[in-house]
Amino acid sequence: QEFNKRPTKAVPRSLSRSISQSSADSFTSVGSESSDEELSPLDRLQSTSKGLSDFCIKNIKKADFGRKEIEIAQQEMPALMILRKKAGGEKPLAGAKVVGCTHITAQMAVLIETLAALGAQCRWAACNIFSTQNAVAAALAEGGISVFAWKGESEDDFWWCIDRCVAADSWQPDLILDDGGDLTHWIYKKYPNVFKKIRGIVEESVTGIYRLYQLSKANKLCVPAMNVNDSVTKQKFDNLYCCKESILDGLKRTTDIMFGGKQVVVCGYGEVGKGCCAALKGLGAIIYVTEVDPICALQACMNGLRVITLTEIIRHADIIISCTGNKSVITREHFDRMKSGCIVCNMGHSNTEIDLASLRTLELKWQHVRPHVDHILWPDGKRVVLLAEGRLLNLSCSTVPSFVLSVTATTQALALIELYNAPQGRYKQDIYLLPKKMDEYVASLHLPMFDAHLTELTDEQAVYLGINRHGPFKPNYYR
Ligand SMILES: NC(=O)c1ccc[n+]([C@@H]2O[C@H](COP(=O)([O-])OP(=O)(O)OC[C@H]3O[C@@H](n4cnc5c(N)ncnc54)[C@H](O)[C@@H]3O)[C@@H](O)[C@H]2O)c1
Repeated sequence: QEFNKRPTKAVPRSLSRSISQSSADSFTSVGSESSDEELSPLDRLQSTSKGLSDFCIKNIKKADFGRKEIEIAQQEMPALMILRKKAGGEKPLAGAKVVGCTHITAQMAVLIETLAALGAQCRWAACNIFSTQNAVAAALAEGGISVFAWKGESEDDFWWCIDRCVAADSWQPDLILDDGGDLTHWIYKKYPNVFKKIRGIVEESVTGIYRLYQLSKANKLCVPAMNVNDSVTKQKFDNLYCCKESILDGLKRTTDIMFGGKQVVVCGYGEVGKGCCAALKGLGAIIYVTEVDPICALQACMNGLRVITLTEIIRHADIIISCTGNKSVITREHFDRMKSGCIVCNMGHSNTEIDLASLRTLELKWQHVRPHVDHILWPDGKRVVLLAEGRLLNLSCSTVPSFVLSVTATTQALALIELYNAPQGRYKQDIYLLPKKMDEYVASLHLPMFDAHLTELTDEQAVYLGINRHGPFKPNYYR
């Protein structure tokens, strides 16, 4: 019942921090449609070069194209490649049957193929009807993965694909890798007995975690679940570094603006705000910060930024970026006082930060000038530039670096390995964070890419600090 309150596909999981969606968008031209692709994948009989046919995708002939995409992603996903090497002959997922429902993009393909290299048998569906890279799905199928997904699935196709992953002949999953909770929901609804064999669920999205907590609260969670979303490494990369790297890209692609000397107001100086400020400062923008929390405000001051209220600075702002996770941070009152040409966008929470409803009034005209760019016109000729209709700018208008997805994907792989190999009783029917030591391990697997050399604690130093010299190096509450 809890899971029946499923979000509709028309609103692709705005709560979910499943960032791979945007990187899929950037590759939409890959493997573009040809005339023999006009048939629905459901009506086409296809098989791989080895004669396998346990998959349903757009066009298996695009596999070579998809393979190149996967190889490019591999270069920026070093930790998964190291995991494959480290496992060597060991195969920590030997015999594991993993059913997955994630975006099917080049980056996720690197994860899926890593799980297979570590010994797992995988069946996979897409968690979003628009985000599948068809050529990548073809490459996965050609490589022997049972994948059921294509770009532009209908609502019915979506559930059919998930069902084909779960209800395969003589195949029962041990592990679930979910993004958004739909797969978990389907198994609860249609095949509750499958949970008897399941060793755990790994969930990466905010929405999916929320739904798991609802289940847990109702005493209906019958297996352990790993909350990957709140791993420290994942959060740092998603919030700070991802936003630092993508804010400029999103603004440039939509507005072609030059940043030097522009007056930029960043609302909220948390992880996302810090990332945005750092990037903009690097290009010579003059930055103002608004904050409610004196500690974050003081941090902004220490970094040479001016802390001010939005009302005080609004008339001078060239760009306003909301990063608060809050609602109605930029209101109609603010819009009325902005100067003409001011650019407004959101990097924080879904679409709540900018009060758009207040702009849908008779006296204001909306002019759609480019994808993701609207001009809002006041009766006196003033125009304000609104980006991505107040939704997350970077997810709507730029790509997300593969390296960021590498951190998440490595965390997911380790969570699956942990759940599969944990001795009975270590995890109960509850929701867990990945143990700190493993979070540290995810980071350490990414260090060789930079030829970074870690200092090792001496025994004496470890005793002095009261920790194990091999970690975890920080307490669980450290973020
Ligand atoms: N765009 C992305 O790719 C992306 C990535 C990660 C997270 N997010 C989202 O961004 C939001 C912020 O994340 P975070 O990690 O920076 O959170 P955070 O809690 O570290 O920072 C938010 C800051 O906003 C401040 N704040 C709250 N209300 C305010 C207001 N009315 N005016 C001014 N400041 C206010 C808070 O005091 C806090 O310091 C969240 O909703 C998060 O889900 C977006």
